Amino acid sequence: MTTINLNGKSTRVDADPDTPLLWVLRDTMQLTGTKYGCGIALCGACVVHLDGQPVRACTTPLSAAAGKKVTTIEGVHAGRVGKAVQAAWQKLDVVQCGYCQSGQIMSAVALLAQNRKPTDADIDAALAGNICRCATYVRIRAAIHEAAGALS
Ligand code: FES
Ligand code: FES
Repeated sequence: MTTINLNGKSTRVDADPDTPLLWVLRDTMQLTGTKYGCGIALCGACVVHLDGQPVRACTTPLSAAAGKKVTTIEGVHAGRVGKAVQAAWQKLDVVQCGYCQSGQIMSAVALLAQNRKPTDADIDAALAGNICRCATYVRIRAAIHEAAGALS
């Protein structure tokens, strides 16, 4: 049994500690907002936060989350930055098919938590590992600037 703090709630997880966090979230906890894209840490669809840091849930074992705060797209609105990012995403109508977007948002929130005035270069660097097959990159960048403005 592994105990994690999942979206603000202490949660006991009955799964092999080697299980990738992605499958714990999706299959055990029924939190399907975190997506599977590549399974090898290349696409960013599965980004969640571990104690506020962005990690790829597909290559993070459950054991690495023991005793830590795990935040997923389902819980990110609880924070001021998460709320601002989601509002900006809606305002600028960022989403196309949507598959990559929870990972994009989680990376954007992690960036803005560290840097409230990111430049285009900062955004490109922070989200370089988040692939969007619909190529929504221009709107993602604009939405991050929008959220930064709302937070200032
Ligand atoms: S599914 Fe984790 S990075 Fe692609
Ligand atoms: S919105 Fe379709 S993959 Fe990004």
